[in-house]
Amino acid sequence: MKQTLEQIKKDFNLELGNVKTLSDAENLRVKFLGKKGAITAVMPMLRDVPAEQKREMGMLLNEVKNHVQNSLDEKIKQLNEQEIENQINSAEKIDITMPVNLGVGSLHPRTIIQKEVEDVFISMGFVVDTGNEVETEFNNFDAVNVPSSHPARDVQDTFWLTNGEVLKTHTSAAQNRILKKYGTNARVIFPGRCFRNEAVDAGHENTFFQIEGVIVNENVSVANLIYFMKEMLSKVFKKEVEVRLRPGFFPFTEPSFEMDVKCPFCGGKGCPTCGGSGWIELCPCGMIHPNVLKMAGIDSNKYSGCAFGLGFDRLVMIKSGLNDIRVLNSGNLKILKPFKLNI
Ligand code: DAH
Repeated sequence: MKQTLEQIKKDFNLELGNVKTLSDAENLRVKFLGKKGAITAVMPMLRDVPAEQKREMGMLLNEVKNHVQNSLDEKIKQLNEQEIENQINSAEKIDITMPVNLGVGSLHPRTIIQKEVEDVFISMGFVVDTGNEVETEFNNFDAVNVPSSHPARDVQDTFWLTNGEVLKTHTSAAQNRILKKYGTNARVIFPGRCFRNEAVDAGHENTFFQIEGVIVNENVSVANLIYFMKEMLSKVFKKEVEVRLRPGFFPFTEPSFEMDVKCPFCGGKGCPTCGGSGWIELCPCGMIHPNVLKMAGIDSNKYSGCAFGLGFDRLVMIKSGLNDIRVLNSGNLKILKPFKLNI
């Protein structure tokens, strides 16, 4: 029996050297320790061993059995560690710095383009501020030179609150606060949501976005206005654009203009985006009316300023190829998700 056990140990040690995988190890365990394994088969022989050798043989049997068991455990541990090591070193690496697109959502097109426009203005030294959605009648109208008798009030069909305040009808409602805050060295844009009691259709919404800006300093002129608008529009449309000014009217600017951009899609030949005219009306603007400066405590004899609005939803629609403004407020993921920028 002693010889058999020593042979088993030798055989096992030899075969252990060939174990390369976890399944090799399992096969070896079955071969030696399994129900029909070599060690299991030796056990009944103990019965026939003479009494004086029983103790010694019993101990030897245990020793071989423990040796096999412990060696296999150690081997399995090594193989597991090896496996982890291999995974770490293999092509199956996980790069934690890699951006992972889980497809859980995306920014709203309006947010994407708002960020883009803001970045352009920031690069030109502008500060981004904001306005309130609920405004006083004074800020929304009087402070921008629209007293209660002024016909311009009728154009902006207003949601009045029972306390006399309004849902701001335009971002210009923040002008007075902004001019007071930044004073005679203002270069500020203030995007925001506006509200008007519009009959809603593909081109009109009761809730819409504008981006407004003001520049105040000594000697601010129409040339500054044109420069900044042209720069901004060129960056937004990612090509050098042409702009033109037409006379306009706004109570808070004098003179007032409508700034058009030559259609960046057809280059002015006329296409569906520009309605065939070759030009897209995008930025109402002008030189800030002296009354507006005065109401913000700015000396209009010494300082001048220009202001501009940006029909922001319109810009988003042009850039995204959407032709129905209602989609932007709809939360309709089917339409918004595959949204791609045309330029
Ligand atoms: N507040 C005007 C509107 O909603 C847009 C506007 C026009 C803003 C001229 C301006 C501006 O700053 O100078 O119709």
